[in-house]
Amino acid sequence: MKRLTADHDEQIETMYASLRSAYKAESEMEQNLYWEAHLSSEPELRALLLRLSYDSLGHKAFLEHLFTKLRGFSYERSKVPSPETAPKFTDLKVDDLLSSIRSSEVRMMEGYLQAKHGASDEALKKIWLGEDPHIFRDMMEYLVNAERLHDTLLKAYLQNMKKGE
Ligand SMILES: [Fe+2]
Repeated sequence: MKRLTADHDEQIETMYASLRSAYKAESEMEQNLYWEAHLSSEPELRALLLRLSYDSLGHKAFLEHLFTKLRGFSYERSKVPSPETAPKFTDLKVDDLLSSIRSSEVRMMEGYLQAKHGASDEALKKIWLGEDPHIFRDMMEYLVNAERLHDTLLKAYLQNMKKGE
């Protein structure tokens, strides 16, 4: 594993890159699914998409708060959602849409896992401006579990959909 050999700066750099891409993915998820939900005529699907969008909004806010506690961290704040910048999925069939969302959820989960385990305690202590650096790992764990739950919800929806066909 990289974390055993990489020096602190390298660990931190990799961790920051994971957090930046997870934040970007949360922002895209929030916006795309919000608009996608409004275009969906199926109530259960609409509810699922809105839930995922709303959760991403929450995760984004959670990350923005967390970012204030990381020394030297910079990121590009996401823009206000608009229909012009958002719908990317509209031409997809429902199962392709949900599979595509699932891969994003899994990628985010992997990003949070990387951030959780990618830096040693010493490296984490160097950059964490909060009180207890272990809180950082607990926060990552929370996000990992949240993405895992999304993946489970999407999988269940897909399975039910296939049963109904
Ligand atoms: Fe998320």
